[in-house]
Formats: sequence, structure tokens, C-alpha cells
Amino acid sequence: MDKQTMVRNINRMKAEQNAVIVAHSYQVDDVQEIADIVGDSFALSQYCSASAADTIVFCGVHFMAESAKILSPEKTVLLPEINAGCPMADMVTAEALREAKKKYPQAAVVCYINSSAEVKAECDICCTSSNALAVIRSIDKKDILFVPDKNLGSYVAKMCPEKNIIFWEGYCITHHKIRKNEVLASKELHPDALLLVHPECQPEIQELADYVGSTKQIIDYAKNSDHDKFIIGTEMGVLYQLKNDSPHKTFYMMSTGLICPNMKKTSLQSVHDALALKRYEINLEKDIIERASHSLSRMLEVAK
Ligand code: 13P
Ligand code: SF4
Repeated sequence: MDKQTMVRNINRMKAEQNAVIVAHSYQVDDVQEIADIVGDSFALSQYCSASAADTIVFCGVHFMAESAKILSPEKTVLLPEINAGCPMADMVTAEALREAKKKYPQAAVVCYINSSAEVKAECDICCTSSNALAVIRSIDKKDILFVPDKNLGSYVAKMCPEKNIIFWEGYCITHHKIRKNEVLASKELHPDALLLVHPECQPEIQELADYVGSTKQIIDYAKNSDHDKFIIGTEMGVLYQLKNDSPHKTFYMMSTGLICPNMKKTSLQSVHDALALKRYEINLEKDIIERASHSLSRMLEVAK
């Protein structure tokens, strides 16, 4: 099937099924092009919780589709690629977290949205990279067990010195692997460019940055800045929107390795098949939905 026919079919099925296609900014360009909304984890959660659609086709990774289901349990949520997971989310299990909670009974428990529904069900409140600071500051307790991203945890600890952040040993395989010497080389090559990095990068990379922010915050920063050259320190999928927003500006990738293989699994074909075959449907136990929705809804309340 050629691309035009595929897109026509997708749009027809979407209308027939009252479906929306949501895509994370790390998706391939073809998928971003046909999506009803493209955004970061927070923007997509907000969109899904307010959507009037019957079906959500979630072009992203597993924990994101689960979050959409938790926020809208009455909707059909489809993940076009069943094996699109997030290695960082797998670095914390509900069982391990229950053990840690016994060790730190005095601590509030905050989970990055990059975690399973079972883990969210064990937490007091959830956060994304764009609202982590607001979420942490909304908590009365000083001690905060923060799972699973130790790099986002370090960022939060630096920005909120009044809190005692207890870290977890998790990290994003894509952002964490970037080395300081690569970044220094890139800065040397493009001395007049601003360096914008995601807080999933290691602290030593964050320290080199002119700006640290979530996917959407990086996109907005570049769009609104008077500057016209940027080194981008997050997954390369953001280039699609950066170039669309500011065709006259120049963007360099901080490293050639900034590709999330799981985010790249979804194609136009998989979106087409998701709608045609109603696959792969996300189903969660009622009890998990109820408990996990508490931490997600609390996040949406704190950071509207
Ligand atoms: P944000 O969408 O919050 O920027 O997070 C990035 C990410 O790694 C998603 O998996
Ligand atoms: Fe997970 Fe990192 Fe990929 Fe996001 S970019 S889905 S955190 S591996």
C-alpha cells in the first residue's frame, strides 16, 4: 500500500471508530504527521484525560498507553506495537518498591510517569519531566523516595535543596549513555549554539547545558528564543517539530546516539493495523486502575 492510501485508510477508520491518534515527540516523522496531537508525556496525559474519543491509539511506549487507560478506563486504548516498552520503566517493580517503602516509611513516594501501572499504584503522586519540580514542591514531607530515574532525581534534588531525595538506580538507556567528551566536542564545533538538554541526561551533561527541560520545554525554548542555533540534547524525534516551528533556525544533535529504539518501532503500517485489527488493547485490573489513577490525577491537579 502506498503512503497516501495508507493515510487515507487511517483517517477513514479513525472517523468510523471515533478514535484519536496521539504521538510522543520521539515518534518517527510519518507518525507525528498523522497524529491528532504530538507532545511530551505530560501533554499527552492531559489530552487523553480530557478526550471525548472512544478509542485512543497511543503511538509511544507501553507505560504511556497504560497511563492513558488509567486516566480513561472506559476508553479502548491501543498500543500499535506491543513490544514498544521502556527499559527505564522496567528498572523498578512494584515488589521492589514495596520493600523500599518498608525501609523508608517516613518518605513520600513519587514515581516518574515512566513506570508501570503496578508501580504507580504504590505511589503517592506521579510526575513527568516537565512538572517534576512543581510536584516535589507540592509535597509536605522532606524525605522523598523518587523512582526510577536517578538523573531526573538528581535534577530535582539540585533544584529543590530543601528536600531529601532518595534515589533509585534507574536511567534512560538513550539519554544516560551520552558522554561528556561527546558534548564538549559538539560545543566546540558549534560555539555559537545554545545547548538544550533533557533531565534524563547525566548530571555532568546537565551542568554543561544552557537550558535543562522536558521534551516540550526544549521545543518551546528553541521556538521562543532569539537565538538561531541550538545543540539538542534529547531524542532526535524532536527535530520534526523543531524544524516545523522554526525552519530558519539550525539544530545540531548533541550526539548521534540519541535514538530511542522502542519509540522508533511504531510506523504508519502499525498505526493502520492497530485500527484495522483493534490491536493491541491495553487492559488493566480494576484495583490497579483505581490505585494508580490516584497518583496520576494528583499530578494533573498539581501541574495543570
Ligand atoms: P518527556 O516526554 O516527559 O519529555 O519524557 C521523555 C521520555 O523519555 C519519554 O519516554
Ligand atoms: Fe524509555 Fe528513554 Fe525511550 Fe523514553 S527515551 S521511552 S525513557 S528508553
